[in-house]
Amino acid sequence: MERISNLERQYVEEVLNNGFATSLNSIFNNKLEQTFADAFHAKYAIGHCNGTATLHTALAALGIKPDDEVIVPPLTMSSTALAVLHNHSVPVFADVDKDTFNISPEAIEKVITPKTKAIITVALYGLPPDYDEILSICNAHKIFLIEDNAECFLGEYKGKLVGEFGHFSSYSFQASKHLTAGEGGMLICNDEDLADRARRFNCLGYAGVNAKQGKITRQDIQSPNYARHISLGFNYRMSELQAAVAFAQLERIEELVAQRIKVAKIFDEVVCSTDLLKRQMEPEGYKNSYWSYSVTLETDRPETDWFRLRDLFQKNGGDGYYAAWMLSYDEPLFRNEVQQKNGVWQIYEKGLCPVAESLQKRMIQFKTNYWNLEEAEKQADILQQTIQKF
Ligand SMILES: Cc1ncc(COP(=O)(O)O)c(C=O)c1O
Repeated sequence: MERISNLERQYVEEVLNNGFATSLNSIFNNKLEQTFADAFHAKYAIGHCNGTATLHTALAALGIKPDDEVIVPPLTMSSTALAVLHNHSVPVFADVDKDTFNISPEAIEKVITPKTKAIITVALYGLPPDYDEILSICNAHKIFLIEDNAECFLGEYKGKLVGEFGHFSSYSFQASKHLTAGEGGMLICNDEDLADRARRFNCLGYAGVNAKQGKITRQDIQSPNYARHISLGFNYRMSELQAAVAFAQLERIEELVAQRIKVAKIFDEVVCSTDLLKRQMEPEGYKNSYWSYSVTLETDRPETDWFRLRDLFQKNGGDGYYAAWMLSYDEPLFRNEVQQKNGVWQIYEKGLCPVAESLQKRMIQFKTNYWNLEEAEKQADILQQTIQKF
């Protein structure tokens, strides 16, 4: 199977043949947004240049203010927390569940304050978080929910699609994701007013755009009296070339996601036959879309064994594997720039989220983007041999 097929090439060529003529420059953006909204059971979809900008837009559209607190997991790619900083708000870290690695509802309860205005959940590596519990917290405290689903396309939670739970749900088309356009992002929601605000924020605060329409009409801009900007926005739009590639990928979403799940199942057979590795738990009713296949290394010395196993795996012909990102609050940015001891900012220091800290050093991610299953089988065999010799 090909990750980039002739369909993507054909659509890109159509865009190039249109020569970026203004009147033809949102054909694929419109198709992508409409089809994405339908596929993810949402009323509105707003294309973005990436899946970090989408989160910033969501926070801004929800009216989250500077100094408002937004609860995020620390064990994720840090864009989740960075977007909160982009919005000049305060990221507050809640610990994760030791088995699913996802943000823990009990930990969320512990860090809620009167300043908490939103929670951003992450469907880590493709596994949904516990939406029932999280939504009941949101409802009880009148807190907005934003789903960061950059790593989860077509995951399911108790029969519903991941993306159906938040006030906004965010997706990324960055190069490693299930669907890619090199870069790109999508934000979905069901509320027209929120979608209007999101569109305007992603489109330089233009007066002429709205939930469904991402462009100002020619009629508008021809007038010398046309006032364009009615609020402060960013230029976070998706390009027509990105939209063409993403639209082709969206038409192929079932096969692109299914391939990753097949690869994960191949690694799963090896992992289930050893005590050295323990898989990310998939509770009953959760469907993981396996952006990557995640396990923990079950030894007493993960700090050294992580490297020892990786080196042996590579020596045997394995591709290697990835660690979990450094916890967001351990990043130098948070340690040096963000913490403030006596203001509203949190003090970001070791011990804040002990479960995430203990997991992070023993986590291993195997990539699932093998487009040839024989290669995945080969890698799994090498892993099996490596484990036997370890
Ligand atoms: C959980 C998560 N959130 C946000 C992002 C940011 O997406 P982008 O790279 O498109 O900005 C990523 C990945 O890149 C991610 O994995």
